[in-house]
Amino acid sequence: MKISRLTAAGAGALALLAAVSGQAQSISRGEVIASTCYTCHGTHGVSPSTIPSIDYIPANRIVDTLKAYKAGTRYSTIMGRHATAYTDEEIVEAANHIASQQKRGK
Ligand code: HEC
Repeated sequence: MKISRLTAAGAGALALLAAVSGQAQSISRGEVIASTCYTCHGTHGVSPSTIPSIDYIPANRIVDTLKAYKAGTRYSTIMGRHATAYTDEEIVEAANHIASQQKRGK
C-alpha cells in the first residue's frame, strides 16, 4: 500500500515535470526578448508613456529600425545601446513575435 502510494506520487511528479518542461519549450527566444521590449514599450508594444508604441509597426520595419539603431545610423537616446545587445537573428525573432501580438486587446 505504502509503496504503491509512493509510486503514484512519483508518477504525479513526473507528469508535472513533463508539463513544466513542455511549457518552457513553448516559449520562444523571440517571446523572451520581446518581453524585455515591453518593459519600455508597453505590453504587446502599446506604450503607456512617451516612449513610442511599436504595436503597429510591421516586423520588417522593426528589424530595419533596430539594425539602424545598432549601426548608429539612426539617432537614439536608448535604443542604440539596447540594440547592440542582440544579434541580427535575435532582432528578427523578437520583431516577428511582436508583430504576431499586434492588435491584441484592441
Ligand atoms: C529602456 C527602454 C527601452 C527598451 C527596453 C526598448 N526600447 Fe525601443 N525605444 C525606446 C525609446 C526611448 C525609443 C525612442 C528612440 C530613443 O530615443 O532611443 C525607442 C524606439 C523604438 C523603435 C522606433 C519606434 C518608432 O516610432 O519609430 C522601435 C521599433 C523599438 N524601439 C523597438 C524596440 C524593441 C524591438 C525592443 C526590444 C528588443 C525595444 N525597443 C526595447 C526605449 C526602449
